[in-house]
Amino acid sequence: MKQATDVFNDWAHRGKDEGMERGHGPAVREMMHHALDRVLSQMDAFSFADLGCGNGWVVRLAAQHKQCRQADGFDGATHMIEKAKAVDSENGYHLAMFPQTQPSQQYNLIHSMEFIYYLHDPKQMLQSIHDDWLADEGWAVIGIDHYAENEESLEWPTALDVHMSTFSEHEWIEMWNDVGFEEVHAWRANQSPGKPGTLAIIGKKNQK
Ligand SMILES: C[S@@+](CC[C@H](N)C(=O)[O-])C[C@H]1O[C@@H](n2cnc3c(N)ncnc32)[C@H](O)[C@@H]1O
Repeated sequence: MKQATDVFNDWAHRGKDEGMERGHGPAVREMMHHALDRVLSQMDAFSFADLGCGNGWVVRLAAQHKQCRQADGFDGATHMIEKAKAVDSENGYHLAMFPQTQPSQQYNLIHSMEFIYYLHDPKQMLQSIHDDWLADEGWAVIGIDHYAENEESLEWPTALDVHMSTFSEHEWIEMWNDVGFEEVHAWRANQSPGKPGTLAIIGKKNQK
């Protein structure tokens, strides 16, 4: 099977990152709305990181918010990061492979869209998001289109020849609870008749 980062590096060269930006836009805007409601009810300014950020469009979306004091993106595909840096010198874009990358600081809000299931052990990544990436009282919001209830998505690993870890909505929620997240809430973002929508999950790291 191919490495996901090689596939998406190629997608970046072919301009397919822009299609993802358009396709994921409605669900991500919904996820960010829910997340910012929670974050800004607790603090006046927030730091933001996007894991598996692709060309960095969600970093730039977050940075537009007047209460955002720092926005960083991390991705393992070289050309995704090159494209992000080419259009934006204000925010931070980092070439980073997961799960091995450790953060140099902690963030108030961690976002991730259509990234975590490419890992062989997403629970380990969730644990690291909770323990290493999030500041106390911070929130994580993650969007997943490949999940057991989305039958069409079950063909994607074969179609793309890339590993994807497949779990049901219930199994994902259990994972969030197991690694220590609190106030875990899941919903289907950008759902419409005949379309299962993005499985969106949000949770909080409470102060130790
Ligand atoms: C489906 S794309 C989504 C990109 C972006 N979040 C968006 O919504 O446009 C998945 C991204 O995750 C990155 N990725 C996948 N596996 C990775 C890994 N192990 N380490 C770092 N990045 C990875 C890919 O390079 C790709 O940019």
